[in-house]
Amino acid sequence: MTTQSERATFATRLGGIAAAVGSAVGFGNIWRFPYITGRDGGAAFLLIYVVAVLVLGIPMMIAEFSIGRSAHRNVVGAYRMAAPGTKWHWVGMLGLVVAVLILGFYTVLSGWTLRYTFVSLSGNLHGGEFLGFVSDTYQPLFWTLLSIFICAAILLGGVQKGIERASNVMMPLLAVLLLVLVVNSAMLDGFEEGVAFLFVPKWEDVTVQTFLDAIGQAFFSLSVAMGILVAYGSYLGDTTKIGKTAISVAVLDTLVAVLAGVVIFPACFTYGQEVGQGPGLMFETLPTVFEQMPGGWPLGAMFFLLITLAGLTSCISTFEVPISYLQEEWHISRRRAVLISSCYALALGICCSLAMGEWSDFKLSLPTAHGLESYNLFDFLDNLTSRYMMPICAILTSLMVGWYLKRDFMHDAITNWRTDSGWYLRPLLILLRFVAPALILIIFVANLL
Ligand code: PHE
Repeated sequence: MTTQSERATFATRLGGIAAAVGSAVGFGNIWRFPYITGRDGGAAFLLIYVVAVLVLGIPMMIAEFSIGRSAHRNVVGAYRMAAPGTKWHWVGMLGLVVAVLILGFYTVLSGWTLRYTFVSLSGNLHGGEFLGFVSDTYQPLFWTLLSIFICAAILLGGVQKGIERASNVMMPLLAVLLLVLVVNSAMLDGFEEGVAFLFVPKWEDVTVQTFLDAIGQAFFSLSVAMGILVAYGSYLGDTTKIGKTAISVAVLDTLVAVLAGVVIFPACFTYGQEVGQGPGLMFETLPTVFEQMPGGWPLGAMFFLLITLAGLTSCISTFEVPISYLQEEWHISRRRAVLISSCYALALGICCSLAMGEWSDFKLSLPTAHGLESYNLFDFLDNLTSRYMMPICAILTSLMVGWYLKRDFMHDAITNWRTDSGWYLRPLLILLRFVAPALILIIFVANLL
């Protein structure tokens, strides 16, 4: 069994931040945030989003980091150690299940980005190929397999030499690519129009839905409620300041999301493409834009490499949840845990990939206020996790930390066992006790309507 002293930690504070930012920066930052910002009121949405990050995202991150770091254990073990002899460890189990289900489609998505990176590097990037590609039986499977293989190779290296080292290379590279693309964007004819679309505050576009979108996005974008922050928190050193770490991650995550908008909108406006969101924006609209843009070959390749990095680091963090669980709760070697998780991810990934083509007639249903709604397996897992399981996991976590655990738990966690200032304990506890559960309950119910 792994004892406390031999358990891995991130070697440096920056490495821990890089890994957590790697998890937080994902497809949500690039294909969802810019679009909802443009649609829901520009700077007005941005302001609401920042408030949502402050009152919900950061407190939840601090809570999850604290649960992980206090126990230095995997997600199930950490909840168990926080509240021994109770049923709270089932919340950890729920986080584990969320991560395990997300793996099924996130590796497929990362596979798609790998394919587009490869194609754009070889100079053959074209719009109009997406539907043919994803509904093909074998091609996407190959790329899914490759994405799992890359994650597994990194995860086999362990926490410091695998996750941390990879994050320390991939995140700065992502930042450089993003900055080059931003500079290029500033030279496009549609720059002003694109930036105005993102940043001019349009208060008339703000509706109740805007608030719901902001809260939901803040929550998803910071990788809350999927066991990931507990797992990564468990690798934070005992002198790492949890509050500062959470704030750094949130700031960087938001910065990447905003800059992604600065890259995407001017490009779409310059080439007369309608802006949208999701895979359509990423794999249809943008290839068409890069095809027409002067220098589109290297720029397109850089863009797809950027989202590949964003996707792979999110996948790696998701994998670490079951891997650390298997290692510590089932007492098996890391190598075996990586192998089991990869085989499992491949099996579910194959099913999710085929759900886009050959198996698209196989439908699963979820209850909503208007009765059952049917989805293919891919969309089913996405909706099941983000609309149902994650809000439940987050509410229970905030209740455990805010109400069940003694005040000392959070006090110790944020002050590193009273060696540092904990001036924000009181507002933090108020947010975790009242604001977080109420806001999450509101989006949970609104999502069902
Ligand atoms: N935070 C990621 C994003 O914004 C979401 C995510 C991370 C989802 C890790 C799954 C696993 O896209």
